Amino acid sequence: MPLDEAALETLGLGTIWVRRGASSSPSADGEIALVEPPAADAAESANAPVRAPHAPANEPVAREREPQGTPAAHTPSVRAAVPARPPVPETAKPVRTAPEAEPLDEPAWDDFAPAPPVANVGRDSAPAPRGRAEIAALDWDALEARVSTCEACRLCEKRTNTVFGVGDRAADWMLIGEAPGENEDKQGEPFVGQAGKLLDAMLRALSLARGENVYIANVVKCRPPGNRNPEPDEVARCEPYLQRQVALLKPKLIIALGRVAAQNLLKTDASISSLRGRVHRYEDVPVIVTYHPAYLLRSLPDKAKAWVDLCLAFDTYRQAMAEDGAPR
Ligand code: URA
Repeated sequence: MPLDEAALETLGLGTIWVRRGASSSPSADGEIALVEPPAADAAESANAPVRAPHAPANEPVAREREPQGTPAAHTPSVRAAVPARPPVPETAKPVRTAPEAEPLDEPAWDDFAPAPPVANVGRDSAPAPRGRAEIAALDWDALEARVSTCEACRLCEKRTNTVFGVGDRAADWMLIGEAPGENEDKQGEPFVGQAGKLLDAMLRALSLARGENVYIANVVKCRPPGNRNPEPDEVARCEPYLQRQVALLKPKLIIALGRVAAQNLLKTDASISSLRGRVHRYEDVPVIVTYHPAYLLRSLPDKAKAWVDLCLAFDTYRQAMAEDGAPR
C-alpha cells in the first residue's frame, strides 16, 4: 500500500518524512526515512533527499524500520508476547526532530480560557452514574439513547448535544479524546473542527479512515463550559458509558489523544511525555498515548513525535492481531 504522502504533508511531516528513493528509484520495500527538513531555498518536499543534506555521502541513512510503506502495509506475523512496556524501537526514532528536552505537557486542547465557575447543582455525590450495572448490560443503541438523556453531572445543563461517539461499531481501532468542544457540541459528533481534520490526516497516514475500522469517542460526552478540562467527578460519572463502549467494541487498540484523555483513562497524574512510548492498558485493551491533535496544530516538532507514536500504535496493533487473529 502506498505511503500516504498527502496525509503526512497535512501532518506537517511532508518535508521530514519521505519514502526512501521516492524521487526516482523507489525501494522495493517502500522504506521511509526521516530527514532534516531542507533549507528554505532548497525545499522540494516531495523529492527531498533521504540523506540529510549535510551528511557525508557514505554515511548510512537513518531510517524507519516501521512503517514500511505505511504501517497498514505490514503483514501480520506471529511474534513473541508483547512486553508489558515495549520501548519505541530505536529505528523508529527520528534522526532530527524537536529538541531533546522533554516538551512541556500540552495545554488544554482547545483554548486557554479560564474555567468559568460551575455551580454545583446538588446532584448526589456518587462517583458514577446511577445504574452502573444497568449500563453495563446495554447494547449500542440503548447506550446511545441513555447517554443522550444523561443528567448525571452538571455538564448536561449547558450542552446542546451529547457527543456519544462515531464510527465503525466493529472497529479494531478506538481513539479516545477528552471532551467535546463547541463544534462537537453543536454537531453531536467528536472531532469535527480543525483538530478533527488533523486527526483524519493522522488516520489517513495509517491508511485508516473515520468510520472504517475506527471508532472515535471521548472520555466525557458533554462539552465542559468554556472548553475547560472535565472535572474528576464529571469523568467518573461518564466512565461507565466509555467502559460500556469499550466492552461492546472490543477494540484491539486504543489511542489516547492528549494528556487529559490519557490521565483519565490510565488513572494517573503522570505527564504525557512519560506516558508516551509504551503500552498501557485500559479495560485490558492496549493503550498508546499521543498528543492531542489540537496541540499538534500548534507544535510542528511534536507532529514527528506523534508519528512515532502512531508507528508504535501500529506495531502494537500488529502484535495484538498476531495473538488474536488476522487483521481486517
Ligand atoms: N477535542 C476532544 O478531545 N474531543 C473532541 O471531540 C473534540 C476536540
